[in-house]
Amino acid sequence: MSATEKSQQPEPSQQPQSPEARREVLKEVLAQAKGCLRCSELAAARKNVVFGAGNANADLMFVGEAPGASEDEQGLPFVGQAGKLLEKLLVEIGLTRAEVFIANVLKCRPPGNRDPLPVEIENCREYLYRQVELIQPKVICSLGNFSTKLLRGDPTGITRLHGQAQPLTLGARTVRLYPIFHPAAALYTPRMLETLREDFSRLPELLAMEELEQAEVLEVPEVELLEEAPTVAGADGGGREVDQLGLF
Ligand code: URA
Repeated sequence: MSATEKSQQPEPSQQPQSPEARREVLKEVLAQAKGCLRCSELAAARKNVVFGAGNANADLMFVGEAPGASEDEQGLPFVGQAGKLLEKLLVEIGLTRAEVFIANVLKCRPPGNRDPLPVEIENCREYLYRQVELIQPKVICSLGNFSTKLLRGDPTGITRLHGQAQPLTLGARTVRLYPIFHPAAALYTPRMLETLREDFSRLPELLAMEELEQAEVLEVPEVELLEEAPTVAGADGGGREVDQLGLF
């Protein structure tokens, strides 16, 4: 970066800190994601980019795996059976979907609902990290193996980790990471549902805890992080335009 370019960058104190300012930057990241072509197979097959939805200033953020067919169709995360269960479990602890933010590791549906490939996870990682930096949740609930492994940067599986909160530092934010089973895994297995419900029941307590100590520099990093992503101006992946902006 040249000296002139550098002088045009906002000073840390000018970085967006208010919920409104962070939401505006989140919209810019959404616009970038909508035109993303980093994963050519996913970009060619998708009907919609499923960026995430909910409260852009939520204390609680959920991170699932990847959109399925219904999510791809509607451009919204967790709208199928697993989403209905997630909503039900939220209501049981006194929360609604509108109060939390729900995102996925991948923003595009893998064809045939196959597992996300490592290169796709890597390509999409920055979008998730930007979401965390801008939403500034207190607790991130990773749903299942993919999001738990990505966020922890470690291959330990969800069976060993579920229900145990741990501090997680992403960029300038330190949050509580709380891995739980993916709701899809509990759809047809009553014992798994019991475990999921039990883990869910600890969420209010985690949300009520003091925020973890933050590093000294709390400013939101610049938007340019994603500038290298090849994008198509105005494209939404070939599907109908979905107004995700209205959702957060
Ligand atoms: N499963 C996920 O991991 N994410 C969705 O959005 C839907 C189902």
